[in-house]
This record gives sequence, structure tokens and C-alpha cells, in this order.
Amino acid sequence: MYKKTMSAMLAAGLIISVGTASAQQPQKAPNAQSASAFDNKIIKKISSDNMYNTIAKLSAQPRAAGTPGELIGAKYIKSQFEQYGYETELQSFPFYEVIRNNATGSVTIGGQQINAYVFSGSYSGEVTAEVVDVGLALAGQVPDSVKGKIALIQRGDNPFVEKVQNVIDKGAVGVILYNNSGTSNNVGVADPGQNIPAVTLTRAQGQALVEQLEGGPVQATVKVTGSGYTEKTSYNVIAKMKPHKNKDTGQVVLVGAHHDSVPGGPGANDDASGVSAVLELARVIAKMPTDTELRFVTFGAEEKGLLGSYHYAGSLSEAEADRIVAHFQMDMIGARDAGGDHPAGGLIMYTIDGKKNLVTDLASAAGARTAADYPIPYGQLGRSDHQPFHELGIPAALFIHSPLEPWYHSPEDTLDKIDKNKLQEAAEIVGASVYQIARPDTPALKHARVAPGPVDYEFNDRPPGA
Ligand code: BES
Ligand code: ZN
Repeated sequence: MYKKTMSAMLAAGLIISVGTASAQQPQKAPNAQSASAFDNKIIKKISSDNMYNTIAKLSAQPRAAGTPGELIGAKYIKSQFEQYGYETELQSFPFYEVIRNNATGSVTIGGQQINAYVFSGSYSGEVTAEVVDVGLALAGQVPDSVKGKIALIQRGDNPFVEKVQNVIDKGAVGVILYNNSGTSNNVGVADPGQNIPAVTLTRAQGQALVEQLEGGPVQATVKVTGSGYTEKTSYNVIAKMKPHKNKDTGQVVLVGAHHDSVPGGPGANDDASGVSAVLELARVIAKMPTDTELRFVTFGAEEKGLLGSYHYAGSLSEAEADRIVAHFQMDMIGARDAGGDHPAGGLIMYTIDGKKNLVTDLASAAGARTAADYPIPYGQLGRSDHQPFHELGIPAALFIHSPLEPWYHSPEDTLDKIDKNKLQEAAEIVGASVYQIARPDTPALKHARVAPGPVDYEFNDRPPGA
């Protein structure tokens, strides 16, 4: 049983008092306790050998979103969850990738062809029509006269995609954008579904065209080849375990990682390591009594812009999102060469707003009680799947070793550079924290002598690098 706010935690007896940051950097947990009997139920069962084996399986091939490697990985993860007795789902979602294949763009007026820059993602096609100057193409200011015509648009004030949409909404068949400074034409982005060719001219070329239009109608041809979007499919793997009916608090805890890698990278640490801990915790917790629904989720297309986690978060109803009290994201938790000389191998919890929350409170305290033997510090960073959950108002944090290893996002992110000890420490901390929420007897905790105390833990302004 757990509530999202600190005061609620105090009321529930889950935290006795809230730790305040002391001026000095703690060298060791000032009030570290040995693991409680409850922690031991979880942490004694966590096997870094199991995690290592999972990483070996997953990193056998790259798992870039939308590739066969991703699906192989996702199906493997799903089968493991099923083996542990979870209700599982492979949640597919589409995403779009820019095609830019020797892209060419041109504007032809009166037999004279000008080479033009092709918008990133522009539709390929050729249109011939009159040109209409629509200024900045601001919402509500595009004239009806652009219907069936080519819109001439000045750069500035609103995003490219908005400009294109505003003229599409008025029936334009092509876009000629011109720059508002300098001598380059190298700008412009179109979204999937904006199916008209869109190209860019320099400021001087655009101004010349504006002047020409003042003298009378101008007919132009806009042509784009070798450009567009391709639709791909990525997957989230979702495993759920409902608590016992009589003990159900109605609350949900999420434990996540991303299973996709960068193209061509084996992604052993990024983020097969996180997935390995998600699976291991799912295995260990599957047989434990809980009063909280647990959801273990591995996200796809994180490397394409957190697409899987945004898809999952977006698929939750408001009522469902309200039930989620915590999200633990593990992304890059096994790198031998990360973390520098920082305590606990450099493990840190990053939150989006740089503030402590339920997740960091629980995990820093767990750090002091488990193998890491240190109250894990927190810092501020996005860059992973904790972002969408934070945006829903759910306490969320990213567990990672910082500073980064040199192999980040390279083909060298391989199994041989994984440190089992780092995996073990991170999984113990997250596992003990999750179980702290999920175990049925937590509300009685204040009466139990094994109640883990709060710890002081520091804000650490530690940039991960790269
Ligand atoms: N594992 C990284 C996140 C990360 C990298 C956190 C370095 C801290 C330090 C993640 O997979 C990633 O690469 N994220 C992208 C951003 C994302 C929105 C595409 C990144 O950081 O470039
Ligand atoms: Zn990652």
C-alpha cells in the first residue's frame, strides 16, 4: 500500500521521517542498516548470473526498433515473463522513419530550374501550379486563395511542421519555404502524412520570388524525389501480476527498461542490462505475496525518442494512470567502465525535475541496506523512459551509472564489459524498493522493528557525459 506524496508516506508509516540533505557528501551511509528480513526475501534470490545470461541472449544481435532483432528480443522477453506466470502482452505501435535516399528538390519557373533543399521527410512528388505568398503561414492567417496552389512561406515565428499543416489545411499542393537570414537553404521538416512536396530556397531566392509575384501571377513546378517516411512497427512487452483479491490496494508499481538498441549496436549495457534486471525481479517477485499490482514493462523505440514509453503512457486511461504510484526505470545498470570513482559504482537516480520523490526516497534507503551499502544520490536528467511517467505526475526515476562508459551507443557495448556486481547492486536496490511498496504488511511497518529508516541522500550535479 502506498501513496504518492511524502505526507501520505509518513501517515502510512512507510517512512519515519524525511531525510534532509546534509552539507557534506556522505562517504558511507550514516544510518545504514543491514537488510531486513523483508529485503532478504527479495535480495537473496536475485541472481546476477541470471541477469548476465539474459544480456548474453539479448545482445546476440542488434535490436534497433522496427528490425527483426527487436522482435526476436521482445518475443524472448515475453516468453520469460510467461514462464514466470505473468499475464503478458506484446503491445505494438507504429513509428515513422525519414527516408532520404539521394534526395533531390527543385523549383522551376519559366523554364529556369533552381536546386532547392528537400524538407526532412518531405513527400516525393511533382506539382505545377500558381504560387501564392502566404507570409509566415501563421495559423488563421493563410488565405483561402492558396487552395490548389503552391504556398510560398517565409521562415520564422512558428515551426516548419505547423507552417506546412496550416497551408495543407487550406488546400495547398506544394510548399516553397525561403530562409529569413544568411545564404543557406538547409532547413525544413515535414511530418508523416503531410503529403505535398516541400522544398527550401535561400533568403535571396525567396525575396526575388516575392518581388516577382508583386508583378503578377507566377507559375512554378516543385519537384521532390528520394524523400518521405517509412512506417515501421515497434513493441512494448508488458507483464502484469495482480495482487491477491482480498489484499488489493488498487495501486500499481511499474518497473521498466528499454529493450531496443541503437542500430548496429549490441546494446549489452544499453539497455539489455536494464531488461535483465526487469526479468530477474519479475522472476523473484512472482511468487511473493503482494497487495499492489506489479507491471514489468520493456519498452521499444526508446532510442527513437522514447516512443514506446510515450505510447504506453498514452494508452493509459486517466483512472489507470492515477493508480500508478511509482515508476522505476533501469537503463544502463551494468557497465564495468562507468561510474568513475563514485561510491556504489557510480549508481545515481535521475529525476526529470531534479527533485526527490517516492522512488528516490525508497531506493536511497534501500541502497543503504543492500549490497551497495550506500544511500544512492539523485540528480536531474531526462533521456530515458521515466520522462512520460513524470509527465503524468507519477513519481519516477532513472537508475544508471554516471559518468558513462566510453562504449555508449557503439558496437563495443558488448557482454564482456558487463559487471555482475553492478547488476546485482542495482537490481537489489530496485527490488527492495518495489517490494517495500508491494508487500502486504507495509502499513503495519511502523509497528515492526525491522522498519527500514530513512537516510540522508544528496543531490549530485553529475553530468553523465556524451
Ligand atoms: N540510455 C540512454 C540514456 C542516457 C544516456 C542517460 C546517457 C544518461 C546518459 C538512452 O538509451 C538514450 O540514448 N537516450 C537518448 C535520448 C532519447 C530521447 C533518444 C540520448 O540520450 O541521446
Ligand atoms: Zn538506453
